[in-house]
Amino acid sequence: MKKAEVFIDGKKSVDLPILTDTMENQALDIRALRQQTGLITYDPGFGNTGSCQSQICYLDGEKGILRYRGYAIEDLVEHCDFIEVAYLLIHGYLPNKKERERYSQLLNRHSLLHADMQSFFRRYPENSHPMSILAAMVVSLSAFYQIDLEEDPELQIDLTVTRLMSKLRTIAAFSYRKMKGFDFVNPSHTYSYCANFLNMMFSSPVVPYEPNPIHVKAMNKLLILHADHEQNCSTTAVRLVGSSEANLYAAISAGICALWGPRHGGANQAVIDMLEQIHNSGENLSKVIERAKDKNDPFRLMGFGHRVYKTYDPRAMIAKKTCEEVLSAMGTSDPLLDIAEELEGVALEDDYFKEKNLYPNVDFYTGIIFRAMGIPTNMYTVMFALGRLPGWIAHWLEWHHDPFERIGRPRQLYMGPAVRVVPPINERE
Ligand code: ACO
Repeated sequence: MKKAEVFIDGKKSVDLPILTDTMENQALDIRALRQQTGLITYDPGFGNTGSCQSQICYLDGEKGILRYRGYAIEDLVEHCDFIEVAYLLIHGYLPNKKERERYSQLLNRHSLLHADMQSFFRRYPENSHPMSILAAMVVSLSAFYQIDLEEDPELQIDLTVTRLMSKLRTIAAFSYRKMKGFDFVNPSHTYSYCANFLNMMFSSPVVPYEPNPIHVKAMNKLLILHADHEQNCSTTAVRLVGSSEANLYAAISAGICALWGPRHGGANQAVIDMLEQIHNSGENLSKVIERAKDKNDPFRLMGFGHRVYKTYDPRAMIAKKTCEEVLSAMGTSDPLLDIAEELEGVALEDDYFKEKNLYPNVDFYTGIIFRAMGIPTNMYTVMFALGRLPGWIAHWLEWHHDPFERIGRPRQLYMGPAVRVVPPINERE
């Protein structure tokens, strides 16, 4: 095994092993560093920290490669539906025909929500953000569908995984119906996973509704694009909460909360808000780019930049193509797509964006597809969560079976006061 020698003040202190992964990337194993030298590593934002060994997702940010369990994202989007990809992420292999059918039946069987849970929804204010409902309802599943510790633990985990996969879709659709003040529509065994979701969202007692196959196909593609992305913020949240041995529902709820922020999954909503604002104000695109570059202006070009991708995000490439295909198949257009494409062109020609390798990320074009499907802006991050769920589950399961699993607990550099004595209250300023 290769080793790195660490010298402190010119004196050799420790040999650290160098680990190599499947793709020949190398990592310094620093586990013995503190014990042998007293030093910790400092890496705010974990930009250079490998927190686990994983077999789920591979991405190369320099080359723009993304693979789930070894399969290229382009291949999966072209040849699989979301449920097959979810199965792949969770079980490690693509299902055969029989397994695929059995999985659909299982998801169908677990898709209903406990009637008392439905009454929960009714108490939320009309203007609640659906992500707050989603996070709260998912953690509430642990009260309604308790994990029986007397039973075979692996069977219990299987059941929890299936319930989550199926019920998150129902919860997501119900959170929309609540927002609109509509009655809930229960899942139906006659529909596929995505068609079922669209039916629960848009079915109406007064206007006939049948899920549009163009929307069903687009939704499958979008969910696949979002299904996993290795150790991102929300997945890390799921692993971290899971590492305390909190239950799977609690860990997934934490992932949903982490996803909500505009720097992460909330960016798809922020992109549409930004494009609408440009459209309504008629603001010159060069001015928008100037604002994004101005360090005194908090504005950033939403849907641009990525911690890992230093080239075009492969998911953004597929989303852009899908967006054009969906609008063309529907025989419609969207001025926001024209603005987005023009904005991308201006940004990619700009020296600031070139030097910092800022390219469109997955969120730049996906909102325009959701818009074409009639999904409201504040549901976009919910759609992202639906897609990311199998990835979160796969990472929780991987952590659960990892022989090296320990509670996640980083260290810090303490920069506060050294020691202070509490003064009596009347002597305090
Ligand atoms: N617009 C303008 N400048 C940007 C942008 C942007 N969208 N993104 C990064 N930069 C600049 C930063 O200001 C920084 O400049 P500096 O070096 O002069 O200080 C430099 O590029 C590096 O950016 P960081 O913020 O340090 O990069 P980090 O890896 O920490 O953040 C992030 C990545 C959060 C995605 C960032 O690019 C961003 O905020 N983008 C906009 C929000 C967005 O689209 N988020 C979705 C990401 S994809 C996902 O989570 C699904």
